[in-house]
Amino acid sequence: MHDFRYVGDTLYCERVPLRALVAEHGTPLYVYSQRTLSNHFARLANALAPLDHLICFAVKSNANLAILRILGNLGAGFDIVSEGELRRVIEAGGDPKKCAFAGVGKSESEIAFALRRGIHTFNVESEPELQRINAVAARLKKIAPIAVRVNPNVDAHTHAKITTGTYQNKFGIALEEVERVYARASRLKNLRLRGLQMHIGSQLTAARPFVDAVRKVAPLVSKLSRKYGFDFFSIGGGLGIVYRQALASGSEKWWSSPEARGVLTPEKYAAALLPLLRPLGLRILLEPGRFITGNAGILVTRVEYVKQTGKKTFAIVDAAMNDLIRPAFYDAYHEIVPIRRKNGALVSTDVVGPICESSDFFCKDRPLPKAAPGDCLALLSAGAYGFVMASNYNTRPMAAEVLVNGHKATLVRERQPMAKLWEGEKVPRWLWV
Ligand code: LLP
Repeated sequence: MHDFRYVGDTLYCERVPLRALVAEHGTPLYVYSQRTLSNHFARLANALAPLDHLICFAVKSNANLAILRILGNLGAGFDIVSEGELRRVIEAGGDPKKCAFAGVGKSESEIAFALRRGIHTFNVESEPELQRINAVAARLKKIAPIAVRVNPNVDAHTHAKITTGTYQNKFGIALEEVERVYARASRLKNLRLRGLQMHIGSQLTAARPFVDAVRKVAPLVSKLSRKYGFDFFSIGGGLGIVYRQALASGSEKWWSSPEARGVLTPEKYAAALLPLLRPLGLRILLEPGRFITGNAGILVTRVEYVKQTGKKTFAIVDAAMNDLIRPAFYDAYHEIVPIRRKNGALVSTDVVGPICESSDFFCKDRPLPKAAPGDCLALLSAGAYGFVMASNYNTRPMAAEVLVNGHKATLVRERQPMAKLWEGEKVPRWLWV
C-alpha cells in the first residue's frame, strides 16, 4: 500500500530513515515516496488494462514538478484546472495533448493559452462557457476539442465539501439538459465534440456511487457518441484511500487496519465498472488524484512544547493548518506516528499547530505515545491536498518537499525563504514619513 514503515523503532520512507531527512532539511517537511507513487499508478493501470484508457492525474492533488515528471514518465495524462497547472505540466515535460482542462470558471486568457498549446479537451461546465470557448477558438482560428461535464445527480456519500455530482453543486450540466446542450454546441463552428465527462466527488470508499453514475449516464454516452462521433468518456476521479491505519503495537504491519481490508481497491473499482464501460467501445479517461498521491506522502513535524492544562495534553508542533489544512477544513483524520517508535502507555493528546486559531489542530483526544519536545511526528496520507493547499497564513514560510527513491533522497522544493514572503509587496510613498 505504501512505503512508509518501521524498521526496528525507526520510521523509514523506502530505504531512507526519516530522521536523516529531518537532520538535513528540518521541519515541517513533506516527504514523498517515488515507489509508492509508481506502484499506485501501475496498480490502477493494470486493473484497467482490459480497457483502452488514459489516466489523467489530477494535478490539483499534488502539483510538485517532480511528482508530475514521475507520472508523465509513466505515461499519465493530466487533469488540470488552471493555466498555472498547465504551465506546471509543460515545465515538468508533460504532454499538453494528454491534458483535460476542467473547472467552472475558465478565463478567456486561460482558454487561449490552452488552445495554443493543443490540449486534449476542455471539460465544459456551462452554456456560457461553450460560447466563450467557441469565440476564443474562432479568434485564434482553431477548433476547440470539448466534452460536456454531466452532473448525474448521484450522491457520492462523501464529505459535503467534496461532493460534486448532485444538483446542489455548482458543477456540470444537469443530465436532462445535456442532449440539448450538445445540439447547441454542434452548431458552434469552432468546437469539436469529442466526448463526455463526469466526476461525482472525492474520497469515495464504495463502488456503488460510481456504478450508479455510470449506469445513469452510459445510455446517453452511447446515443451522443453515435450522433457526434465521440472518442472518449471520462469518468472523473474520486477513488478513496485509507486514512485510518491503526498503529498495532509490536507488528510491522501497522498500516493494515481492518478499515484497510474493507477499502475500495482499484481492482474492485475496475471489476464493478468494466462491464458497464466496455460495451461503449470508447476510450475511457480517469482523473484520479488522491489515490495516486495520498498515501505516497507524509508531513513530518517537530514537537515544540508539551502543554498540560489539567484537562488536556497538547503537543504543540511546528507544522500548522497553513501546511496541512485538511483537519481544520474537513475534520479530516490523518494518522500520526512518531518517527522514532516509543514503548509505554498511550496518552490522550491534541496535536496542534502554533497558529492563532482553535481550528489549527491535527487531532483531538487521540491516544498517542507520550510526546516530548524535540520528538518528530509523521502525519500520514498527506501526499494529496497537502502542500498544494498550503498558505502563508501567519506569515509562515511554506514547508520544504523531499522525494525519496530507494536509498536516494533529494529536495524537490526548497523551504520558502523568509524574504520571499513579502516579495512583491510595496509600501506606498505617501506612507514613508
Ligand atoms: N476530477 C475533478 C473534476 C475534480 O474536481 C477532482 C477533485 C478530481 C478529478 C480528483 O479527485 P480525487 O481523485 O483526488 O478524489 N481538497 C479536498 C479534495 C478536493 C477534490 C476536488 N476535486 C480534500 O482535501 O479532501
